[in-house]
Amino acid sequence: MKRRKIAAGNWKMNKTFSEGRALASAIAEGMEPSENLVILGVPAIHLKAVANTAKKVKGLEVAAQNCHQAESGAYTGEISVDMIKSVGAKYVIIGHSERREYFNESHELLAQKVDATLSKRLIPIFCCGEPLSIREEGTHVAHVKKQLEESLFHLKTKPFEKIVIAYEPIWAIGTGVTASPAQAQDMHKAIRQLIADRYSERVADETSILYGGSVKPANAKELFSQPDVDGGLVGGASLKADDFLKIIGSF
Ligand code: 13P
Repeated sequence: MKRRKIAAGNWKMNKTFSEGRALASAIAEGMEPSENLVILGVPAIHLKAVANTAKKVKGLEVAAQNCHQAESGAYTGEISVDMIKSVGAKYVIIGHSERREYFNESHELLAQKVDATLSKRLIPIFCCGEPLSIREEGTHVAHVKKQLEESLFHLKTKPFEKIVIAYEPIWAIGTGVTASPAQAQDMHKAIRQLIADRYSERVADETSILYGGSVKPANAKELFSQPDVDGGLVGGASLKADDFLKIIGSF
C-alpha cells in the first residue's frame, strides 16, 4: 500500500454491539473530508456493522484484530480471513503484543497469519515493539529487527509493499507513558532502514509506519509530525469518539 497518513483505532475487547455501533457512527459523522485514512480495529462481532457504516464514508475502513492462519476447518472459536473479507473489512491487525503475550503467538505463527491475510488480498497491520527490559538494555532495535525478520522479511517485494507496520513499545501500551516523539522517530527511522536494507530505499520510503502506545489528543500532533511517523494505532483513546476525532484531526 502506498504510504499514507493513517489513524487506526484498536478497540481491543471493548464495546457491546450497540455501543460499538454508536461509536462507529459518531466517528463516521464527525470525520472531516481528507486524504488520510482512518481504520477502526474492532472485535469480530462488530465487523459487519462497522463495515456497513464505514462504506458510506470516504477514507474510513475496518480492521479485524486477529485471524486464523488456516483457510477453514475445525478450529472452534477462530475466524478465517475469508470470513473477515466477506463482511467488507480490508485490514487485519497481526502480532499485537497482547496476542504475542497472552496467546503465545510466535514469530512463525505470525508469518503464517501474514501469508494467509495477503493471500486473500487483505492488508496486515503488523505490530512490533519491545518490552521495558529490552528498552532499558538498549537492544530495542535488534529486538524489533528479529520480529520483522522472522514474520515479514520472508515476503517478496510485491506482497511486502502491501504491509502497514505499527511500532508499539510494550512499556507504552495502556500505561499512560508515551514514547517521546524523539524515541518514536528514532525507532521508525531504524525500521525504515531495516526495510531499505532488506528490500530497497523506495520500498522503505513507501511503507506506512504507525506509532502505538498511549497516543492521546494531547500528544498526537507532535508524534505524527515526526518525519518517519505516518500516524498511530490507538487503544484507549479510540474508545471515545471525541478523543479519536481529535487524534484524526492531528495530522
Ligand atoms: P493504548 O493507546 O491504550 O496505549 O493502546 C495502544 C495499543 O495497544 C494499540 O494497539
